[in-house]
Amino acid sequence: MKGIILAGGNGTRLSPLTKVTSKQLLPIYNKPMIYYPLYTLLSAGIKEILIIVSNDRPGDFMRLLGSGKEFGAKFTYEIQDKANGLPEAFVIGEDFMDNENVAMILGDNIFEDDFSSAIKNFKSGGKIFVKEVSDPERFGIAEFDNNGNVIRIEEKPKQPKSNYAITGLYIYDPRVCKFAKELKPTWRPETDITDLHNKYLELGELSVEKVSGEWIDAGTFETLFKATELARKKFHDMNRWDFIMKK
Ligand code: DAU
Repeated sequence: MKGIILAGGNGTRLSPLTKVTSKQLLPIYNKPMIYYPLYTLLSAGIKEILIIVSNDRPGDFMRLLGSGKEFGAKFTYEIQDKANGLPEAFVIGEDFMDNENVAMILGDNIFEDDFSSAIKNFKSGGKIFVKEVSDPERFGIAEFDNNGNVIRIEEKPKQPKSNYAITGLYIYDPRVCKFAKELKPTWRPETDITDLHNKYLELGELSVEKVSGEWIDAGTFETLFKATELARKKFHDMNRWDFIMKK
């Protein structure tokens, strides 16, 4: 399994902080934001990671993370010239994936859960992770039938059909590259990751798992603050990367 961290975008919601640096390099307690999604992938045993950044400050990411050696991994970098949507990661990352499965995580998503077994047991199709939230209008939201099966996913619905948000960790087989290329932009000038989930759902090949620990999309001032509190309370292991290197 390969890994992708998508860490581009404009970070406009966090301006003026993002005038100084990229959103994913902002501090969350005692680490830059990107360390947390990186930790999620590394601690699940993923060693080959593509880091996609905007053309704004690629050097800052490379200075911080380097070759990956320090983390017992190998990092590759690509630039996304414009924020054309999350699915573009699978177009940019096609060569890197080289026909292998991929776990993609958003550079501003902070998870408490350990995804090792979900990642190790993944064979094919798609897998996404949901978490109950109090502000469903902000996220991709799952709609369930009476038997608790997901029947549709809607991006930032005005009238959400549930409170279950699609978190920013996605596991896909290599067909995702082809599907991503086929997507049309939505009413916004970008493509929508929700269309990819729905594609696998229509094929009957999307599995959905609930996240049990805390999850934060740190893309707003309020959630950036919450993420700092969570990190201060719970991410003590991150001071010891050597435990990951031994995996
Ligand atoms: O956090 C989970 C949510 O992430 C999901 O529930 C939604 O379905 C999904 O669309 C996404 O929603 P956001 O509103 O958080 O998307 P945003 O445009 O803020 O992008 C998420 C991250 O990806 C952000 O850190 C910037 C980066 N990004 C975004 C775009 C559009 C890129 O690197 N490139 C892009 O083209």
